[in-house]
Amino acid sequence: AKVRRYKWEVKYEFKAPDCFRKLAISINGRTPGPTILAHQGDTIIVELKNSLLTENVAIHWHGIRQIGTPWSDGTEGVTQCPILPGETFIYKFVVDRPGTYLYHAHYGMQREAGLYGSIQVSVPNGTKEPFSYDYDRSLILTDWYHKNTYEQATGLSSIPFVWVGEPQSLLIQGKGRFNCSLLASPSLAPGTCNTSLPECSPFVLTVVPGKTYRLRVASLASLSAFNFEIEGHNMTVVEADGHNVEPFVIKNLNIYSGETYSVVVKADQDPSRNYWMGLNVVSRKPATPTGLAIFNYYPNHPRRMPTTPTPVGPLWNDSEYRLAQSLAIKARQGYIHPPPLTSHRQIILLNTQNSINGFRRWSVNNVSFTLPHTPYLIALKQNLKHAFDPIAPPDTYDYVNYDIFKLQDNPNATSSNSIYRLKLNSTVDIVLQNANTMVATNSETHPWHLHGHDFWVLGYGKGKFDPINDPKKYNLVDPIMKNTVPVHPYGWTALRFKADNPGVWAFHCHIEAHFYMGMGVVFEEELRRLGSYLYQSWDVGIQKAHTILN
Ligand code: C2O
Ligand code: CU
Repeated sequence: AKVRRYKWEVKYEFKAPDCFRKLAISINGRTPGPTILAHQGDTIIVELKNSLLTENVAIHWHGIRQIGTPWSDGTEGVTQCPILPGETFIYKFVVDRPGTYLYHAHYGMQREAGLYGSIQVSVPNGTKEPFSYDYDRSLILTDWYHKNTYEQATGLSSIPFVWVGEPQSLLIQGKGRFNCSLLASPSLAPGTCNTSLPECSPFVLTVVPGKTYRLRVASLASLSAFNFEIEGHNMTVVEADGHNVEPFVIKNLNIYSGETYSVVVKADQDPSRNYWMGLNVVSRKPATPTGLAIFNYYPNHPRRMPTTPTPVGPLWNDSEYRLAQSLAIKARQGYIHPPPLTSHRQIILLNTQNSINGFRRWSVNNVSFTLPHTPYLIALKQNLKHAFDPIAPPDTYDYVNYDIFKLQDNPNATSSNSIYRLKLNSTVDIVLQNANTMVATNSETHPWHLHGHDFWVLGYGKGKFDPINDPKKYNLVDPIMKNTVPVHPYGWTALRFKADNPGVWAFHCHIEAHFYMGMGVVFEEELRRLGSYLYQSWDVGIQKAHTILN
C-alpha cells in the first residue's frame, strides 16, 4: 500500500461552468476538484489550505468509513472545527475498500458552490473485479444555481422563508450550458453570460468503437433527483456505493444526491456519429433544461453535435418506476455480505416539514437538527458538559395515530443539537418514514447518507411502515450495502448497520438545503470506551502527517 499526498488550496474564483459568470469555490483552480486515484489499502493525506479570504471550510470524504480516524471525516460541527481562512488542516485516512467515492465541502452550503470531486479506489494489483472493461471514466452530475450560497442560505433562514427554487442548469462533470439569451447584455463581467466561452462547451466523453467503458456515475446534486441516459446505449449496473451489485441492464439510471454507480457501456452503435448523454430532473416538477454532454465516437469531431432530439427522460412524477429501480438492486452473487438476522434497536425516523418560531424547518421525529458550536467529537474528548443538549431525541413517533398523507402542522417540533448514542457493536435498524410536506398532496424524495458506515438496505415500502409486519418482509438474503439511499414520496426505507466504528457520525438528507434546514441526526458510537487510545493515535497521526509534509 502506498501513501498518496495532495496539497490543495481552496479558493473563490470567477467561473462560468454553464456560461454564466459567478463565484465558484475551486481546488487548485478547478471545479470539480482533482480526482483522487488510489488502490485499496492506500493512505491518503490531503493538506488543505483555506484561501477563501473570509470564509471557513471543511471537506468530507463521502463513502470512506474512516475506521479509527473519525477526526478525518471532515464534518464541521460534528468531527471538527471549521478550517479558518489562511489555515491549513491535514486529513489523513485509509481507503480500505475498492469502489467509487466522492469528496465535497461539509460546511454551510458550500458544496453547491462547486467544492467537490471524486475518489476512485481500484482493487489491489493482481486482483480481479467480477466485470471487465477497457477504460475507466468518471462523471459527476450536479445541479447549478446562479445565486450564490449566501443568498440561498439567507433565504432559507429568513422570515418570510425564501426557497432556493429550481436550479438554472444541470452539469455533467462540471459543464453545462445556460441559454444566455434569457438574460440581458452578455459580456465577460461577473453576473453575465457568454455562450462563446470555451469553458462552457459541453463535456465530451470520447469512446473507441467496440471498446467497453466503466462509467463511474455519481450525483452531488444540491437539490435535484436525476435520470441519466446515453442515447441509443444500454448500461449494465455493476457497482453501487463501493459494492458489487448483481448486474442489471437499463436505459435510464435514476440517481440521487450522494449515490455512486458504476455502469458498463459498450461503444457498439453506429460509429459514424456522436450521441447525447442526457441528464433530466425527476421527482420534482422540472424547471431546468436537460443537461447535455457528448458521447463521441472516435474519430468523429468531438464538438460535432448529434442532430437527433435530446433525451427527455421518464415522466418526472413516475415514482413507481423509480421505486422499481431501487428494488432491482441486489448484492452480487459471490459478493454477498449477509446482514445480522436480528437487531438490538429499532429507530423509526419520521421526516416532516414544519414551522418553528416562524422559520421553515425540516424535522425528524419533531426534532429539527442544529449543529453545535463545539464539534461533538471534541466535546466528548474533552468531556465538555454544556456543548450540546444531553437529552437524546426520540426513537420513534406516534405511528398509530399519525397520518403521513395529511397536511400537518406538527406544532410540537423543536430545534435541538441532541444526538443518539449507540452501544458499540450493536446492530441498529433505521426506518426512514416519509410524509406530506407543508404543501397539500406533496411528498418529496430524500436521499439519506450515513457517515462512517455502510448499511444493508432491507426494504422499501409504500405508505406507513408497520413495525410488526413489515420487518417480516425484509430482505435478509442478498440486500445491497450502501451509504446513501432514497426514501421515496409517501414511502419508507429500512436499513440495518453495525455500530462498530467508535466516533460521531452524521446521518442526513443529502439535499443541501434540507440538511441546512435541520433534516439530519447524529449517532455517537461509544467513543469514550476506546477514547484515550484512539485520541492518542489521533495526535500521533497528525504529528506524523506534519513531519512527512514538512
Ligand atoms: Cu456527502 Cu454528510 O455528506
Ligand atoms: Cu431531503
